[in-house]
Amino acid sequence: MKEIKFDRSLHVYDSLDELSDEDRSLLLRAQEQLPNAYAPYSNFHVASAVLLEDGQIYFGVNQENASYPLCLCGERVALFNAGANAPNIPPKTIAIIAKNQQKETLEPVTPCGACRQVICEFEIKHNTDIRILLKGGDSEKVYLIKSGKDLLPFFFDPSFL
Ligand code: THU
Repeated sequence: MKEIKFDRSLHVYDSLDELSDEDRSLLLRAQEQLPNAYAPYSNFHVASAVLLEDGQIYFGVNQENASYPLCLCGERVALFNAGANAPNIPPKTIAIIAKNQQKETLEPVTPCGACRQVICEFEIKHNTDIRILLKGGDSEKVYLIKSGKDLLPFFFDPSFL
């Protein structure tokens, strides 16, 4: 038996002032999209902005449906938007903002497992790490995670197929 340890880190910022201009701007651009979320069933709004290596930014917001299982998360809408429009440009950073319309969202909201898997797929496709910025809609606290693989260490690897 051997034990394999993982080296992961979470950077926590208490204020947007502590971020680089690029990261702060990306988070604020994502936050501007929150009102576009289509979330009449959960009232939980999620907006995401994907910054590509060439400076382009693609956005996404969650898309709900009366047939509940069809709902799609904001992160995946943003990544698929980038994948559809700039398939060969590697993503550098994804910013994700969530806001519960019924109570304050003071803590950063971490992406669901499905979105983590999709972030990992984009990392593998482009042979890069994607930085992940997380923020709640009602506070300035921000988490920075250096890679999707840090959020989902045992992701389903395309090499299995
Ligand atoms: N949601 C996201 O957009 N991202 C996540 O990572 C988790 C949840 C959305 C899906 C649904 O529209 C609402 O939040 C409540 O689950």
